[in-house]
Amino acid sequence: MLHPYNQTIKWSKLLGSQLIHKPKPALSHFRYVTRWFCGACLLTVTLGLNAFCVATTALAATVVSPASEPVVAALTVNATSADSATRATGATSADSTAISGNSTGHETTRDNIAHDAHDAHDAHATNAAPARTLVGVELLAHPTGATPHFDLSKHSVVLNNGQVMPLLGLGTWTLSSAEAAECVYTAIKDGYRLFDTAQYYGTQRGVGEGIRRAIAEGLVTRAEVFVTTKLTPYGFSDFDEAIVACNQEIGLDYIDLMLIHQSGSREQELYAAIERAVAKGIVHTLGISNYYDQESISKVIAQATMLPAVIQNENHIFYQNNELKNYLAPYGIVLESYYPLGGRGHTARALNHPTIQAMAQKHQATPAQVMLRWHLQAGFLPIPGSHNLEHIKENYGAFALTLSAEEMEEIAKLNTNEHYETW
Ligand SMILES: NC(=O)c1ccc[n+]([C@@H]2O[C@H](COP(=O)([O-])OP(=O)(O)OC[C@H]3O[C@@H](n4cnc5c(N)ncnc54)[C@H](OP(=O)(O)O)[C@@H]3O)[C@@H](O)[C@H]2O)c1
Repeated sequence: MLHPYNQTIKWSKLLGSQLIHKPKPALSHFRYVTRWFCGACLLTVTLGLNAFCVATTALAATVVSPASEPVVAALTVNATSADSATRATGATSADSTAISGNSTGHETTRDNIAHDAHDAHDAHATNAAPARTLVGVELLAHPTGATPHFDLSKHSVVLNNGQVMPLLGLGTWTLSSAEAAECVYTAIKDGYRLFDTAQYYGTQRGVGEGIRRAIAEGLVTRAEVFVTTKLTPYGFSDFDEAIVACNQEIGLDYIDLMLIHQSGSREQELYAAIERAVAKGIVHTLGISNYYDQESISKVIAQATMLPAVIQNENHIFYQNNELKNYLAPYGIVLESYYPLGGRGHTARALNHPTIQAMAQKHQATPAQVMLRWHLQAGFLPIPGSHNLEHIKENYGAFALTLSAEEMEEIAKLNTNEHYETW
């Protein structure tokens, strides 16, 4: 059967030919009037049929379709563990459940986790959150349905995969493995729950050791600490094996966050391997590091099915990543600040800046605490590095002061977009 539209055209053409072509002289008056009458009837019937079809189609659409537009769901939630909901530093599990807002409160098993992730995804789809194009594929805005919730009172943030990440961590670059073990163990006593290492740093074993010691002494549980490590997208013949090796070296059952250390020709291959590790539960959250613009981010996740939750970049008062931060906000991707005190070899410039010095004096705090507090209030996760136990304790004191909106604005003005590292 012809589509009503085509049918109308056909009948209109037929009728048109009757209207345009003059009756042959031989045609009787009666036959001429009859043709006109039949033509008019046909037109009326066709138009009526057409209107009926249109109305029926519209009605069917209203009944069958959901209220909202379907959303292209290319994103897989990269959460694998609801236990992070209990990780909020210093928070009770009830508190942290409230933070995540997505926790179901049931016992954490891999099945439940997958179910939670599925629910989050479904809920998101039915809410018809706008699909956004981060790369060639459409990616949903993050499944928790809100921008990452920084809760400074609980020292944690809920990531775009529902995982809870502590807000201020200890960096371990340049430390020996033994130093890392000692610093991490002491930092846990000071309140730290986030620790940054990398396969490249050679501190994975030490970080694991320090944490295991604290767990053994009952200072923390595994679920309360959060370990980040990184792999370079080169130097390994098999990334799946390399991830397993990192996990074994750290020795804490799973890795909370695994980052691609920096861009490289095999970055998509590594990204896919981390996605597989997330699916297996070896890694809980996926992220990238040293990606500063849309182009490089689009490239690394061109084949991705999971959105990164964290991007770790050089970030300090002189290089504030503002454009990138605004770009990432709709996806709920948070920026973790390495070089939060201005970077190795450059910290004196930041620590001695008159604006920072004046604020430190006013708040009876130290310049490092002022800068770290700026990171926290600006929505960044700083990971100051130190092998000095006094500095480590001092830095966690950033939670104890509050900068005013004017002070935040003053520090924002120090941005000169100076970027020390180019890797
Ligand atoms: N993804 C990447 O490519 C990448 C690159 C670089 C770093 N990172 C990570 O980010 C972490 C932080 O970066 P970073 O350690 O190089 O730079 P940073 O945190 O900006 O600065 C570290 C320097 O500041 C000093 N410091 C720490 N606390 C201080 C305080 N309260 N007062 C005065 N000085 C203080 C440290 O010396 P003391 O030891 O004497 O305290 C150290 O020399 C690294 O440890 C690493 O985990 C990642």
